[in-house]
Amino acid sequence: MTDATDTTDATDTTDASGRGRTAVLAGLGTFVPPRVVTNEELSRTMDTSDEWIRTRTGITQRHWADPGTATGDLAVAAGERALKSAGSGEVDLVVLATTTPDHPCPATAPEVAFRLGLEGVPAYDVAAVCSGFVYGLASAAGAIAAGIAERVLVIGAETYSTILDPQDRTTSVIFGDGAGAVVLRAGDPTEPGALLGYDLGSDGSLKDLIIVPGGGSRQRSAAAAADAPEPDPADAYFAMQGKSVFRHAVTRMAASSQAMLERAGWAADSVDRFVGHQANVRILHAVADQLGMARDRTVVNLDRVGNTSAASIPLALSDAVADGLITPGDRVLMSAFGGGVTWGSTALVWPDVTPY
Ligand code: UT7
Repeated sequence: MTDATDTTDATDTTDASGRGRTAVLAGLGTFVPPRVVTNEELSRTMDTSDEWIRTRTGITQRHWADPGTATGDLAVAAGERALKSAGSGEVDLVVLATTTPDHPCPATAPEVAFRLGLEGVPAYDVAAVCSGFVYGLASAAGAIAAGIAERVLVIGAETYSTILDPQDRTTSVIFGDGAGAVVLRAGDPTEPGALLGYDLGSDGSLKDLIIVPGGGSRQRSAAAAADAPEPDPADAYFAMQGKSVFRHAVTRMAASSQAMLERAGWAADSVDRFVGHQANVRILHAVADQLGMARDRTVVNLDRVGNTSAASIPLALSDAVADGLITPGDRVLMSAFGGGVTWGSTALVWPDVTPY
């Protein structure tokens, strides 16, 4: 029965003081598997070269998980570190962004939560490919604003090495494995670390640009037809139309970043660091150029880790803080583009958080 004196409104996102409930970044942790795969190593097994990979992408090495290590393992390692960085193991929601879940079913997040000692908390996966981390932040922030959660662990974790075709030089040289996680807590929009809004979007007409064609209901349903051809084993691998993806990534990340800047009330040249999805240094520079932002504001760590998809932005944030490129009080703009196609941006003033 409803208490007539209870005036709580589930859609009201203001706290008792009348201030808005905003998601505030309170911890950051990352993990990359120890095995480093250099361009030189790849050029021994496929028709490529260190020179091509470096000049076309900016990548010099990536980390690949050893057989037996799955996305959930990397997610747990990064999650533990993010909880340590936040100074508390308490969260009441886990959101895991990944393109490479441990299983098609169930989601990876519940087991990750369980292994982190967070038994019983709601946990779900977000599938937005390289935009997954930004989508995860927005989803978690929505849960905080709605009063569903006080503290949320948002993880981006990937083992792309498990879906790359070792014969395909157009994809195998680009992607790496890794995980990054943040803790978001309910706070005030004026605090450092408060996420200042989101710009999200998708265009499903371009779904074939980045795809693992096989393994889903589309292929299984087709295979059930009496005259169905044998499935192509290559359909189990990740495929990308790189040139077209490049063009859309620049256009969408620039437009989404611009929309986010307007939402935050920031001029492009007032941004201290642009943390874009680490796909290609040429994409990051093209986006900076379109925004009218100096290229040296762009954080680049893809040289060390390659394109880690949903893990890319937290890994870049962590490396930038470790390198002294992001310090408390800095204006940080984040933007991503990925399969779907999807895109998303957010921004914050960097808080006093030490990444682990
Ligand atoms: O994470 C989601 C978002 N992903 C992205 O944003 C990726 C966006 N795309 C890219 O970063 C770039 O398109 C790539 C790095 C994937 C490719 O660079 P590109 O400058 O667009 O090269 P291309 O595909 O036009 O290929 C140029 C040439 C081709 O040879 P021909 O046709 O000119 O003879 C390719 O066959 O380079 C060849 N090529 C390679 N050569 C040596 C393609 N891959 C390689 C390779 N090594 N690994």
